Amino acid sequence: MQRSFILLKPDCVQRRLMGQVISRFEQKGLNFVAMKMLQITPDLAKQHYAEHVEKAWYPTLEGFITGGPVVAAVVEGLEAIQVVRDMLGATSGLKASAGTIRGDFSSSRQMNLVHGSDGPEAAEREIALYFNDEELCGYEPTITPWLRAADED
Ligand code: TYD
Ligand code: MG
Repeated sequence: MQRSFILLKPDCVQRRLMGQVISRFEQKGLNFVAMKMLQITPDLAKQHYAEHVEKAWYPTLEGFITGGPVVAAVVEGLEAIQVVRDMLGATSGLKASAGTIRGDFSSSRQMNLVHGSDGPEAAEREIALYFNDEELCGYEPTITPWLRAADED
């Protein structure tokens, strides 16, 4: 069982796509174990995107990500990190395959609606950046026996 951090970016909130995006993750079988709305500060943006702070396009990214409320969440499931990344599609909505969230809803490299952790280290770091332990509500969904066989883990 693996946890991944997802962030519904300001374009997702403003375009009223939160429900559709959350539904896709739920329909896939991922389990939401934490969620909150917040406004990202420039300081938090620099921590979240630490690997990109020196990039030429970082200032516009910071302006975008701090430009409106976001929804931070943690999802849990088998291979959740890769499953979420595959569901998001390529970084640019113009390159992302049809059927992915970015491919279906975004026509932008920057306004690509949803962030997902790109590996186990990033997931751990990002979950800790947005949530404390008491905010993580792990639980066993009663529907699990109808989502996968008992020996799949
Ligand atoms: P990156 O980590 O490369 O993409 P991903 O979100 O798919 O892991 O980049 C982080 C975010 O930065 C990306 O979601 C959108 C934004 N971005 C730009 O604004 N301009 C760019 O040229 C790139 C590559 C990314
Ligand atoms: Mg990335």
